[in-house]
Amino acid sequence: MYVCVCKAVTDTQIKHAIDNGVCTRRQLFYCFGVGSDCGKCNKYVKELLDDHLQQQPIMQPASNQPVLNTT
Ligand code: FES
Repeated sequence: MYVCVCKAVTDTQIKHAIDNGVCTRRQLFYCFGVGSDCGKCNKYVKELLDDHLQQQPIMQPASNQPVLNTT
């Protein structure tokens, strides 16, 4: 489905970008130009970003990593 009609950007493209590290609307703007014309897509882009980022796995805390003995 098209999220940004002005730039012909789909939700699949945005989700793929988020999966590959894009995490802000500004980055999506730089990648695809979303929101740069009429701006009607901004609300949906933000919702997509928020929803999809919440589904991302949380990185393990560093305390689970082996600790080098420095003594
Ligand atoms: S729909 Fe995205 S800028 Fe117009």
